[in-house]
Amino acid sequence: MGTNDISALQPAALSKVHRFYKILMDNVNTMKSLEKTAKRALKGIIPAGLKRDRKIRLARRLLGQISQQTCRSKPLLPSSAIDLHAILHNRDRISEWSGIEAKLSELMAMAPSAAQSDGNRGVNPGDQRAIYHLIRALNPKTVLEVGTNVGFSTLHIAAALEANGSNGRITTVDITDVNDPNDQPWKGCGQAYAPRDMLAAGGYGEMISFVAQSSLEYLSDCKNKFDFIFLDGSHDADIVYQEVPKAIAALNEDGVILLHDFYAGLTFLWDNKKIIPGPCIAIERLCNEGAALEVIPFGALPWPTKGDSHMTSLALLVRK
Ligand SMILES: C[S@@+](CC[C@H](N)C(=O)[O-])C[C@H]1O[C@@H](n2cnc3c(N)ncnc32)[C@H](O)[C@@H]1O
Repeated sequence: MGTNDISALQPAALSKVHRFYKILMDNVNTMKSLEKTAKRALKGIIPAGLKRDRKIRLARRLLGQISQQTCRSKPLLPSSAIDLHAILHNRDRISEWSGIEAKLSELMAMAPSAAQSDGNRGVNPGDQRAIYHLIRALNPKTVLEVGTNVGFSTLHIAAALEANGSNGRITTVDITDVNDPNDQPWKGCGQAYAPRDMLAAGGYGEMISFVAQSSLEYLSDCKNKFDFIFLDGSHDADIVYQEVPKAIAALNEDGVILLHDFYAGLTFLWDNKKIIPGPCIAIERLCNEGAALEVIPFGALPWPTKGDSHMTSLALLVRK
């Protein structure tokens, strides 16, 4: 018998070893959970303003590593042509919405097993409605969306294009293959259906092309032109800084870019005291470098967005 042969130990000795092992593991687990609690507590006591400033510093540092881009503002619609208040308060659209809302909500239903999940479910209901109103009012024929994810914004763009009745088309780009039957990424977001299937069920399948590619790659090779571009992909300052000039170059004359997660003035929008600084910092740099751009933040919508708030991070990018 070798000295390391555990089978040679008496049952009493074995049970002592087991007990010792259990106590050891209990302590390791307690230490781990203590560490987690301490980290959470520390996070909780760092003031929100300090966290925001740190995020902004990091985003500026990343952006500083990108060489200067040329940004022409010429194809963009001039800011004087936009009356957001009129768009969002249009009476006909408001009554039309009550007829379409139920259909779209049903299409976005979550998988029953995920009904309690807190997955990323795309743009919030208030933003979905604002996007619908905007597409109805601006009446684009060709739309590019960056950031398909679960397809909620795609669905509202499609419904508005159909209501416009002019054979509109959407190209929606995501760095992830959002319809991948093997990975089924929609399930991780609590959704019952792949975006392609959800849109087909609504009767919008024919008007949509899905592209699985990074926005920068897609826009660099893009031969198509669009009337309206919705940017809701990466929110990193360095990506948005390169994406915006390429997106403007892919616009038809008097085209419009809609931004999501634009925190104007880098201020908090909601009680959660969180901020995504990338889009604002990226546009700020383009403007500082001479691009004639103007951002029109939507601010408070006439209807609720998330929590008890009416605030939105949607903003239009137009020509100064
Ligand atoms: C906030 S989600 C978009 C939500 C979507 N608009 C909706 O309503 O369902 C952002 C999406 O952008 C994609 N994304 C991130 N970086 C990207 C990039 N560089 N190019 C294209 N898509 C990107 C992510 O995979 C993710 O699906």
